[in-house]
Amino acid sequence: MKVVIGNDHGAIHLKEILKNHLLDKGHEVIDLGIKEGESVDYPIKGKEIAEYVLKHDVAFGIALCGTGIGISIACNKIKGIRAAVCSEPFSAKKAKEHNNANILCMGGRVVGDELAIMILDEYMKASFAGGRHQRRVDLISDIEAKN
Ligand code: RB5
Repeated sequence: MKVVIGNDHGAIHLKEILKNHLLDKGHEVIDLGIKEGESVDYPIKGKEIAEYVLKHDVAFGIALCGTGIGISIACNKIKGIRAAVCSEPFSAKKAKEHNNANILCMGGRVVGDELAIMILDEYMKASFAGGRHQRRVDLISDIEAKN
């Protein structure tokens, strides 16, 4: 899979952990994040990751900040993005199965390395369930279109 990942200064270590995990598994990773010693406001990075997901041929995006919350809010301002903050694997699985989330968010100050990897793996193993969940995702798109 081709995956885009990005982070602010609250998730530099987490970005490296997840990026290396993906590379070890043979995936292609586009890294839009910042490195040690750098700083960026999470709305700027969230917008960049979200636009990348919509404009490029990637399977999904990963957006990371200190909590995962700020960057997810920023990502979700872009039409067509469904960004889900997940701090445990069950939500990650459901974010894909039920919400067809196209950006997975996590907090570098919230989840540990091993838990973050489990969250990512669970999301990647899951598939969108469609059916009634498609109807609900379409209702979200309706809200976007009218606001
Ligand atoms: C940056 O210090 C921090 O506010 C940010 O990473 C994030 O936690 C915001 O939601």
